[in-house]
Amino acid sequence: MTALHTPTCDLLGIDVPVLQAGMSTYTSPELVAAVSNAGGLGIIGGLGRSPDELRAEIRKVRELTSRPFGVNHVMCRLDPTAVQVTLAQRVPVLSLAWGRSEELTYQAHEAGIKVIHQVVTAEEAGLVASDGADVIVAQGTEGGGHVGMMSTLSLVPQVVDVVGAVPVLAAGGIADGRGLAAVMMLGAQGALIGTRFLATPEAHGRGHSKDVILNALGSQTLASRFFDDVTKQVWPGATVRSIKSPLLEEWAERQQEWALAAEQLRPSLEAALAAGDFVLAGESAGLVHDIVPAGELVSRIAHQAKELLNMRRNPDGSFS
Ligand SMILES: Cc1cc2nc3c(=O)[nH]c(=O)nc-3n(C[C@H](O)[C@H](O)[C@H](O)COP(=O)(O)O)c2cc1C
Repeated sequence: MTALHTPTCDLLGIDVPVLQAGMSTYTSPELVAAVSNAGGLGIIGGLGRSPDELRAEIRKVRELTSRPFGVNHVMCRLDPTAVQVTLAQRVPVLSLAWGRSEELTYQAHEAGIKVIHQVVTAEEAGLVASDGADVIVAQGTEGGGHVGMMSTLSLVPQVVDVVGAVPVLAAGGIADGRGLAAVMMLGAQGALIGTRFLATPEAHGRGHSKDVILNALGSQTLASRFFDDVTKQVWPGATVRSIKSPLLEEWAERQQEWALAAEQLRPSLEAALAAGDFVLAGESAGLVHDIVPAGELVSRIAHQAKELLNMRRNPDGSFS
């Protein structure tokens, strides 16, 4: 047992508690497999993929790794056929977010699949724990993409306190071993990381989006309803964190106008997304200074966290 190896590692069959977030079509089979081959858990983004595309992604990941991996589905945007592909393929881990999942969690367990469920409040954590989730991810508002209102620092220990024996991972704002070590001090058994894994050769970028992340400061992100209102998505309780862009800055304060002008704004938003001028990413973009192969990143984060934690962690997992 290393200082970094937690019960969640045993539960998921991984070596180090570093999970790469299932980020819709931003993940590639190469990214997922590289993370899993390095001893972490790579997760395929299911959102935005047709059932056939998802089946092909799963097949490709299996060609590239024999280690555990996951598939993410977003409950409030669930494609029932796609999720049946995930269950039928008996992938090792089902990752869920944004909605309850008692029936799906039951079906996953019947298929021998572990369920990790991301939440943004302690109340939601209690509910998904009662639904049977094996692992709960507490996502702070610092994160990229769809986020809630609470910060990682205060949310993680509140979730830990609510869910009792269910292991908790932290997400939002973690990009290096310092972040991983810090959330483990809060009671998390590991981290689920999104933004940092966007700056890898394996992630699917959009236009010059990887350069935008490299050059962004943490203070240059904004969480807003602009993205969902303009794309007409209903995503209860969420805002979308992205790096500030001319389009967002022009419209940020004009919520009533943007909702009314959604039809006209949508082509501009889609063009900015495709060019990498509108980039979904979290505050940890300010910690991203290089493009690193995903496997190397897992090792780097784990090594740094282990060094920090070895100074303070007892063999039974407590701190002194
Ligand atoms: C570009 C992008 C796309 C994302 N897509 C999804 C998604 O499809 N499903 C999901 O559950 N979370 C998604 N997330 C959120 C991640 O699961 C995770 O909570 C977040 O990235 C953690 O914060 P961090 O970006 O600071 O590491 C996305 C995040 C980013 C940056």
